[in-house]
Amino acid sequence: MAEPQPSFDAAKYKNAQREQWNKDGAAWRRWNPTLDRWYGEVTRQMLDLARIQPGQRILDIAAGAGEPAVSAAERVGPGGYVLATDISEGIVELALQVARERGFRQIETRAMDGENLDLPDASFDAVLCRLGLMYMPRPVTALREWRRALKPGGRVAIVVFSTPDHNEWGAVPASIIRRRAQLPPPVAGQPGPFSLGGPGVLEDMFRQAGFADPEVRAVPVPHGAACAADYVQVAREAFGGFNAMMADLSPQERESVWSEVEGSMRSFESPGGFEVPGECLVGAATK
Ligand SMILES: C[S@@+](CC[C@H](N)C(=O)[O-])C[C@H]1O[C@@H](n2cnc3c(N)ncnc32)[C@H](O)[C@@H]1O
Repeated sequence: MAEPQPSFDAAKYKNAQREQWNKDGAAWRRWNPTLDRWYGEVTRQMLDLARIQPGQRILDIAAGAGEPAVSAAERVGPGGYVLATDISEGIVELALQVARERGFRQIETRAMDGENLDLPDASFDAVLCRLGLMYMPRPVTALREWRRALKPGGRVAIVVFSTPDHNEWGAVPASIIRRRAQLPPPVAGQPGPFSLGGPGVLEDMFRQAGFADPEVRAVPVPHGAACAADYVQVAREAFGGFNAMMADLSPQERESVWSEVEGSMRSFESPGGFEVPGECLVGAATK
């Protein structure tokens, strides 16, 4: 992927990310059981590709409210160490609460920009990032930083969404919101949920950042719920990006947009419940 054009204000974008996730972190945490159901399989595959062993030191970037840090802590065991980092100091505080409630003393948390790690060289066995790299304005710069923090032979393993046509859970609401809020189409090369999902993009980025043996696989992540209304409730509360796109609409207009989204989501209902397609890419490489 090309790094963003000079006109793109990366600092402003990062600040908006920080503020959004400081605000929406509690909802992301509250919906953790649902998110675990949707993203559990892809998380297991990422941890497998990271080849995590008991006793290792793991760095989780853009850790949100604690995943995959908590799952990694289970794998490294009490003799290992997991550092969960995120640009949002509010959400990473929630990650610490989750870790302590689950009894994991081997997890620490720190607020940190994933493109600029305040960490020594060659100090981790694996770097993980679930659903975070695509929100970084300079993903290759970020990957170079992660590589710097890895020990020789260390592994990077990440999850990003693939392309909009395979992710109707997000692409359908986003296109409705975009039309109703009269927003311009997404610009190629700028960060966003589907910005790293194209064919060959992750492999190229791993190579540009100096990693060896990149491997990337597509994994279905269907988003299931009891009905379309239940799905829309999760989307409204946990996926803050949708609300951010509607920042200039009145409360009444927003309600009307969500009604339209729910109407279109009903096409994914069946007698068995509700399921809208999604797909992630799990990618890994070696330092
Ligand atoms: C969709 S959430 C994913 C959280 C968690 N990894 C998960 O999968 O549940 C995206 C996260 O990326 C974080 N983020 C965005 N830009 C970042 C950056 N430049 N550095 C570190 N974290 C960032 C946000 O604060 C947010 O917590």
